[in-house]
Amino acid sequence: MGLIRLVYASESRLVEANRRLETGRIVASAREANVRNEITGFLLATPAAFAQVLEGDRHSVAETYGRIVLDPRHAGIRLLAEEPLAQRRFANWAMGLAERDETTTFIFGLFGVTPDADLPEHPVDTLLDLAGELSRQMA
Ligand SMILES: Cc1cc2nc3c(=O)[nH]c(=O)nc-3n(C[C@H](O)[C@H](O)[C@H](O)COP(=O)(O)O)c2cc1C
Repeated sequence: MGLIRLVYASESRLVEANRRLETGRIVASAREANVRNEITGFLLATPAAFAQVLEGDRHSVAETYGRIVLDPRHAGIRLLAEEPLAQRRFANWAMGLAERDETTTFIFGLFGVTPDADLPEHPVDTLLDLAGELSRQMA
């Protein structure tokens, strides 16, 4: 089994009125599918963008990413990394979620993620470190 990590960033197409609800729905169904597919990872969400880390078997990750890319709830998807992985970083997360809101805006800001420099503007290492920090705080 070839373990890989895939990271992408995208622009959100969710409308403000139901954004939090819809994001919750995305993650709830993602978790169900990811448990079946032995995928772990983390989703970062801001009002305007997503960035997601997917970890798992090469074929499962490719199949999952193939579905994610077609999802009209986001657009402008940019693949930032697809690389072999020795060990999962988000092993306990069928899909972690952190949204930038009143409580997390400070930590997003520490990593430079602001409305003027949103998730897709950042290098993959920054996104991984931010997701790692948020996952530790939420554990
Ligand atoms: C930002 C975002 C993240 C998603 N993450 C996952 C995920 O981790 N795993 C997954 O199976 N589906 C994920 N999805 C959902 C898929 O895009 C798709 O809607 C779902 O797999 C159902 O696909 P189907 O309608 O072709 O059956 C995500 C969707 C979005 C918009």
